[in-house]
Amino acid sequence: MRLRNVSPDDVDAYVRMRCDPVMMADLGGPQPPEQMAAKVRRDAEQAAADLAWFKMIVPDPAAPEVVAGTVNLWSHDCDQGPVSEIGWMVLPEFQGQGLGKRAVRALLELARDEDRWGIVHAYPATSNAASNGICRSVGFRFVSEAEVTFAGSVFKSNHWSVNPKTDLT
Ligand SMILES: CC(C)(COP(=O)(O)OP(=O)(O)OC[C@H]1O[C@@H](n2cnc3c(N)ncnc32)[C@H](O)[C@@H]1OP(=O)(O)O)[C@@H](O)C(=O)NCCC(=O)NCCS
Repeated sequence: MRLRNVSPDDVDAYVRMRCDPVMMADLGGPQPPEQMAAKVRRDAEQAAADLAWFKMIVPDPAAPEVVAGTVNLWSHDCDQGPVSEIGWMVLPEFQGQGLGKRAVRALLELARDEDRWGIVHAYPATSNAASNGICRSVGFRFVSEAEVTFAGSVFKSNHWSVNPKTDLT
């Protein structure tokens, strides 16, 4: 497995991840396919400029054209100041093989090696057993239940946080 920056050529993977009702069940529902080309372009620009880390998961470096999903780390402002947040998605045919966990750990190892992100937060839906499993097994600490607004919908989520410098397992 390796991670690489998202590129403008990743539109198909974005459509399969973000326009699919099952993939998006915990993330506000499917997004319109016609918006994906612009979304990929914006994400690729931010990744290339190192403003955020938008990574595609390549399960087999010998077949770099095959992507299994995405793992992202970005910073946004809330009332208390900037917050670093991580999120992930794994396409159905690659789920349940440990790839999500390995990709999240790999990105947090990159974060550990840079003095930039501080404490990293994740907000998986309380009902998302696999995502909560990733948090538990990578070294996140459970903070609290939280109501999170994403794409205009409010979700019951678990708030987890990890200090990549000290907490990774
Ligand atoms: C959630 C998701 C990223 C998980 O990725 P994955 O590669 O299938 O997960 P992994 O195989 O790395 O498994 C991670 C952990 O969850 C557990 N797990 C995996 N699937 C599970 C399931 N359906 N139910 C319960 N636990 C599960 C694994 O056993 C593992 O825990 P362990 O280390 O204690 O054994 C993937 O299913 C997905 O993208 N779903 C749709 C989009 C989504 O929900 N995104 C995340 C929003 S927060």
